[in-house]
Amino acid sequence: MSDKEHRVLRLGLLGSGVVGSGVVNVLSRNQDEIRRRTGRTLKIVRIGTREVEKARQDFGDAYQYTTELDEITTAPDVDVVIELIGGTTRAREVILSAIAAGKHVVTANKALLAEHGTEIFAAARAKGVIVAFEAAIAGGIPIVKALREGLSANRIQWVAGIINGTTNYILSEMREKGVDFQSALKDAQALGYAEADPTFDIEGVDAAHKITLICSLAFGVPVQFHKAYIEGISQLETADIAYAEKLGYRVKLLGIAKAAEKGIELRVHPTLVPISRLIANVHGAMNAVVVQGDAVGATLYYGKGAGSEPTASAVIADLVDIARMETADPAHQVPYLAFMSDALSNTPILPMEEVVTSYYLRLRVADEAGVLAQVTRILADQAISIDAVIQRESDEVSDANENQTDLMILTHETTERAMNQAIALIESLPSVFGVRRIRKEELQ
Ligand code: HSE
Repeated sequence: MSDKEHRVLRLGLLGSGVVGSGVVNVLSRNQDEIRRRTGRTLKIVRIGTREVEKARQDFGDAYQYTTELDEITTAPDVDVVIELIGGTTRAREVILSAIAAGKHVVTANKALLAEHGTEIFAAARAKGVIVAFEAAIAGGIPIVKALREGLSANRIQWVAGIINGTTNYILSEMREKGVDFQSALKDAQALGYAEADPTFDIEGVDAAHKITLICSLAFGVPVQFHKAYIEGISQLETADIAYAEKLGYRVKLLGIAKAAEKGIELRVHPTLVPISRLIANVHGAMNAVVVQGDAVGATLYYGKGAGSEPTASAVIADLVDIARMETADPAHQVPYLAFMSDALSNTPILPMEEVVTSYYLRLRVADEAGVLAQVTRILADQAISIDAVIQRESDEVSDANENQTDLMILTHETTERAMNQAIALIESLPSVFGVRRIRKEELQ
């Protein structure tokens, strides 16, 4: 009898790094439990890695090792290829090669799917194979499953997530210890949270890859990473985090996908969130995603967004799905992006200027009569309504000299366009020396 007749799902693992090791370990430790769930044995048969000797030492002789990834993507004894090599060049080639050879694919590669998802899903559809990617978004949190299946009765209204652990760790350190951005980043790197190139984390690109995929899953639109607005945390000052706290808000790097009247908002930026929201209390490298559906209301998903076994947990859940679904007629399998491919909508992703949100502004101003009046006049002329104003108190630390002070303003909702115009006018006032803006979301 062949392995297939024995109901063995034969796996080819590409990559033996942090996540690959997690997959090998969890699969071997929980083999019996997984068999009880699926009625099948999930068995790694081949491992492709640049470091064959190290992998052999770590994992033993039960597997066939190679440095030639194409041997695995085309091997007749492999049913599913697990891509954990990362990057968007070689990973794209090996996934397309696996699909062309009729293999199902499981990947944790958010950058690849956010940038080349349309091509990859189309190739998979043409071949009738599954491409699963739970591990690509928020590590161990089953957010793809929640959006694609658990919430499928709903019209999704918005999704907001802390989906990058590195930046959440940095923001937590800046708030709790009062350290500056650079020193918090060094700590995050020493702890191994950051991507190989930490720019992807701190400039919001990693979060944008993930929210782009979430946006497609939530709203049934094609993957459009190039239309996401992306702003990271590298310009944030510790003072703003402290002022926000005083106003009752916490600063989080949020990925936001929201159904608005004229289109979909798709954005990543530092955001003030009311301290009373659960998501504002997600600390350190943890991730959390809030989904607002019209029927269910708000639901919150919290957990580890990275790491060896948490990410392996998501990879193996996808393997279990494949073990259960592969015999289903492809037309009736769960669609890759939650909606049937012929039912994707062309609702536009809105340009940032059309986004509607509220704002925190910090103005460095001359400490003299009339400045606040000039500023509020400009905001009023742009029809921007003020929610709260505070001025720096004399005992608060600031780098302002003694003739200057900081003014903090919270606004009600307005368009980014109106706010851009207001800021340009405020910056042109002779008694204003700088304006910093952070967007604010009430997440109600
Ligand atoms: N660098 C990512 C993070 C890893 O910090 O969340 C998981 O995608």
